[in-house]
Amino acid sequence: MHTETTIAGIRGRLRDVRQPGTRIGLVPTMGNLHEGHLSLVDKARELVDRVVVSIFVNPLQFGPDEDLERYPRTLAADRDKLASAGVDLLFAPDLAEIYPKPLSRTTRVAVPELSDVLCGASRPGHFQGVATVVNMLFNILQPDIAVFGQKDYQQLLVIRRMVEDLHLPVQVVSGATLREPDGLAMSSRNAYLSDSERVRARELYRTLRWSRDRIRDGVTDYASLERQAADRLAQARCRLDYVAIRQAADLSVPDERAGPLVLLAAAWFGAARLIDNILLDGAD
Ligand code: PAF
Repeated sequence: MHTETTIAGIRGRLRDVRQPGTRIGLVPTMGNLHEGHLSLVDKARELVDRVVVSIFVNPLQFGPDEDLERYPRTLAADRDKLASAGVDLLFAPDLAEIYPKPLSRTTRVAVPELSDVLCGASRPGHFQGVATVVNMLFNILQPDIAVFGQKDYQQLLVIRRMVEDLHLPVQVVSGATLREPDGLAMSSRNAYLSDSERVRARELYRTLRWSRDRIRDGVTDYASLERQAADRLAQARCRLDYVAIRQAADLSVPDERAGPLVLLAAAWFGAARLIDNILLDGAD
């Protein structure tokens, strides 16, 4: 596996491998890789001939009071994992390579509406930061496909919308959420949990599953179901951001003509803000 840290370097490598009929897949990450990321790599390897992984902790998607400084940076260990997973190229640029100008003067990509609800409401500017850097990665690497985890469901929709609106020639593929044995979704931020928070954090997925089962039982009063789900989560002593039942296609509030649904939640357990979601049958 080759590692490149510059745009010129990775473009040169890709020029060498990009033959007619050779398909390139990208798995964008912020590093601190776990089994969930590696499953996205496996998915990409099934679909394309060459897999590129990017590792870049993107400051533009962190708010001023968020965990940018302490976000775990584990490049050497990540590199070993990616080499063992059969990745062809690693792109690991530094800050100045991606943002040569001050961030305040950098061009942004905004995806309206989808970016403003749920996580976007509590993290203003977050999805603009994500869309901007993902658009840059697409321009730099020009992949045929890009794989993103379903755990970040809103992010997946924002990127799909950006690709559609900007006519980008990239196929966006989603990879299933990988979970710990007790159901907690794998996440780099699980490392922030204390032992007792770790035990309580499993309630996030349990509550989503409980809510899904109520809907399967025929419950259609979603507002009341959201309140009951919030009560369950309150017992896990988290600071709830939201628990919401939304239309899977665009995160709008479901009405009587609702299509497939997604249940989403975000909550703080100590210093860790965790998110999770479940698609209801038919939404995959
Ligand atoms: O999901 C992530 O790790 C990040 O948001 C991404 C897509 C790599 C953009 O920085």
